[in-house]
Amino acid sequence: MNTFPYAYIRGQTVKIKDAHIPIQSKVIHYGLGVYAGIRGHWHNGNLYLFRPKDHFERMKNGVKMLGMPWTMSYADFRKILTGLIRKNKIRSDVYIRPLVYAGSTQIVPTLEGSEPDFALYMISFGHYMNTGGGLKLKVSKWVRVDDDMIPTKAKCTGLYANSALAKSEAVRAGFDEAVMLNRDGSVAEASSSNLFGVKNGVLYAPPLSANNLDGITRRSIIELAKKELGLKVKEVRFKKADLYKFDEVFLTGTACKIVWVKQVDNKKIGPESSLGGKMGPVVKQLKALIDKAVINELPGYEKWCEKVY
Ligand SMILES: Cc1ncc(COP(=O)(O)O)c(C=O)c1O
Repeated sequence: MNTFPYAYIRGQTVKIKDAHIPIQSKVIHYGLGVYAGIRGHWHNGNLYLFRPKDHFERMKNGVKMLGMPWTMSYADFRKILTGLIRKNKIRSDVYIRPLVYAGSTQIVPTLEGSEPDFALYMISFGHYMNTGGGLKLKVSKWVRVDDDMIPTKAKCTGLYANSALAKSEAVRAGFDEAVMLNRDGSVAEASSSNLFGVKNGVLYAPPLSANNLDGITRRSIIELAKKELGLKVKEVRFKKADLYKFDEVFLTGTACKIVWVKQVDNKKIGPESSLGGKMGPVVKQLKALIDKAVINELPGYEKWCEKVY
């Protein structure tokens, strides 16, 4: 994972080592920021950004939910993004991190006041997790933050303390990733990805009311499952015990793309326990589809890709 040499901050393109935030900033002390994570895929001599407008709109809505006065348009965002991609001479896959943050150095933890700052940096990024052999998930003891505590539809930086607690607990216990439950015991999502299950050919996803992020990959997977595979999709709440019973479980997100799960706690996932340990047919087909879609090779889904060069 290498950071590209140039970043954008407070209206200027600077060397990444000069992209500083003052230590007094509210974003550091109180987690008052909203970020996005966008992937670009290098293919056939061009860079294809995957659904950048959807990521921007989700970020803009997140900022609005926090009540910060941010006025950047998509056209302005795209101009800055393209400018930085060109400056960094990117000719490979890339992961892009825009951040809107309270740069104010006042001591009081409020969101009022000056317009938030905007920053952008880029890294080269292969696999986010070691995904080939399937993931081992641990159901976390940390309960997912409720929407009426911090809006979970905003990728609010402060919210990620909740994710980090769950992920670290799982990793320390020898697992790859955490599943977070809500107070009612229903599944919310993983620490930084959405979760799906498959049972008897039906695709299950926790609904958007389950304190999860409205993932762009989640949206894409649901559309592909319905339109390309003809699957029935049920967005319903389900619990830990249902998770153990699924024929297939998988995670989706910009960083991890789509990753199959081989084990949840000490239970192997599969139609029979002996089948736990193999990638299931549904996730396999969805992976093939999304892998094509992100490089603009899936007919009918070109609208998801924006060319840079
Ligand atoms: C908490 C959380 N859930 C789900 C996702 C997946 O969302 P997306 O597919 O838009 O990357 C992310 C990543 O952004 C996340 O941080």
